[in-house]
Amino acid sequence: MADTKKADRLMDVAIRRSFLMPSSEIYGSPSGFYDYGPVGTAIKHRIENLWRSEFLQKEGFHEIETSLIVPEAVLKASGHAENFADPLVTCSSCKNKFRADHLIEQNENAKKEHVKAAGLPPQQLSELIKKYGVLCPNCKKPTLSEVGWFNMMFQTNIGPIEGNTAYFRPETAQGIFLDFARVVRNYGSRLPIGIGQVGRSARNEISPRQGLVRMREFTQMELEYFFNPKDQSHPKFGKIKHEKLRFASEEGHPQEIEIAKAVRDGLIANEIMAYFLWKQKMLYLAVGVPESKFFFRKMPKEETPHYSKGNIDLEVETSYGMVETVGTAYRTDFDLSSHSKHSGADLSVFVEEDKQRVVPHVVEPSMGVDRLFWCVLEHSFREKTPEKDWEWFAFPPAIAPYHAWIFPLMKKDGMDEKAREIEEHLRASGLIVYYQDSGSIGRRYARADEIGVPYCITVDYDTLDEKSDKHSTVTVRFRNDGKQIRVRISELAAKISGFVKEGKVTG
Ligand code: ATP
Ligand code: GLY
Repeated sequence: MADTKKADRLMDVAIRRSFLMPSSEIYGSPSGFYDYGPVGTAIKHRIENLWRSEFLQKEGFHEIETSLIVPEAVLKASGHAENFADPLVTCSSCKNKFRADHLIEQNENAKKEHVKAAGLPPQQLSELIKKYGVLCPNCKKPTLSEVGWFNMMFQTNIGPIEGNTAYFRPETAQGIFLDFARVVRNYGSRLPIGIGQVGRSARNEISPRQGLVRMREFTQMELEYFFNPKDQSHPKFGKIKHEKLRFASEEGHPQEIEIAKAVRDGLIANEIMAYFLWKQKMLYLAVGVPESKFFFRKMPKEETPHYSKGNIDLEVETSYGMVETVGTAYRTDFDLSSHSKHSGADLSVFVEEDKQRVVPHVVEPSMGVDRLFWCVLEHSFREKTPEKDWEWFAFPPAIAPYHAWIFPLMKKDGMDEKAREIEEHLRASGLIVYYQDSGSIGRRYARADEIGVPYCITVDYDTLDEKSDKHSTVTVRFRNDGKQIRVRISELAAKISGFVKEGKVTG
């Protein structure tokens, strides 16, 4: 169930604490655009780097970075120029425009009958609008037009010559297909080959009203896994086949299914797709989304994108309702074959075992960073309790915005100089730390908790007192329970790094 008040409150917290900022704010903030503040940027980069590590580096795959603006020919070949559209309805009275399938699914009568409007053609959507008496959400009148298509790509022109049409890419994937032959030429054609990228995509969403869930410019982390269609196995499948994934049933109730069984029963197309669904689950757990809050769902045919033989989405419970945050598609050879046909380039590879050239098939896990970021905020947010008199975030240390904040107990008697010295030392050791000396120590702890910093380091009188048995030690306070331990400065960098690695958040 959606709880937009809760979502609005969290967005307010996120803006006040430097996680997010509405884009172009002093000019009125057009909807669908958000900037990340210093705290949000740090967390977003940590999530992206974790994805890089798990989905690329640990798999021996390549990362590339391709252009945001692509010529029209590319998107004609990919099918986006023709098919990448959402159903649009206009109110003839107030002239506002809405996404037709969303309006129908929000209608109370349609909800009672569990109507699924996503993926239906315009004519059927128009019929549903009439059947359920869907009103314009703005002026509340029965004045909605017939449903039509609206292509979601942002169009531009390359250079001063008109007609040189181009688009801001709607997915990062196309750049990977375009560069596939070049990567193969430089690295060899032995399949499978994995190529990924992290980058911006843009979609001119019809009426974005759900913060980071529906943006007009957002970041994707996409992996294209190219393989020989004759061999749909995965070398690491044996390691994960007895593990379980939560899958939504037809009625939407999630149930745990053994991965091997899901592949055997055809719920998951092949071992490759299964392996990457497992990787998604592990990444979600690592960033702090509890397993009870997400499940996988096989897309019905009418919701499957034009290029895919089968899609499985990962959906997360949020205060906007269930939200798709990852789409995994079996894209077959759709893109490579189509680009080959349209451009004339040979995008096949020679397969030694088969003694012939093959156009590889592709499985693509496509993960949105912003939707995941929002889910992390939602599931890490903690209310005030009698023990902690402020709202805070329980981020796993691996994605927290800073590893530690460092304070002098007071800004005098050399404690501030010592804290600065330790700050430099920890930074040189690769830790991300921040020095704070304003406000009471209690207030500084609260401020660190409020943005989810896992450790606070304090330099006090004992640190400097040569006669004290605590000389050259500092206190380390743990975010989740506020407990403190004393640590020798000479061991501090190694200790903090160790805590981050093991995810230690209590004393
Ligand atoms: P929806 O049906 O909710 O519009 P989609 O099916 O169009 O989503 P995909 O095309 O599968 O989404 O895109 C892959 C991923 O990119 C999504 O799972 C999501 O994380 C992200 N994404 C897509 N559209 C947006 C958007 N407008 N704002 C933020 N992230 C998005
Ligand atoms: N690359 C899949 C998508 O963005 O829809």
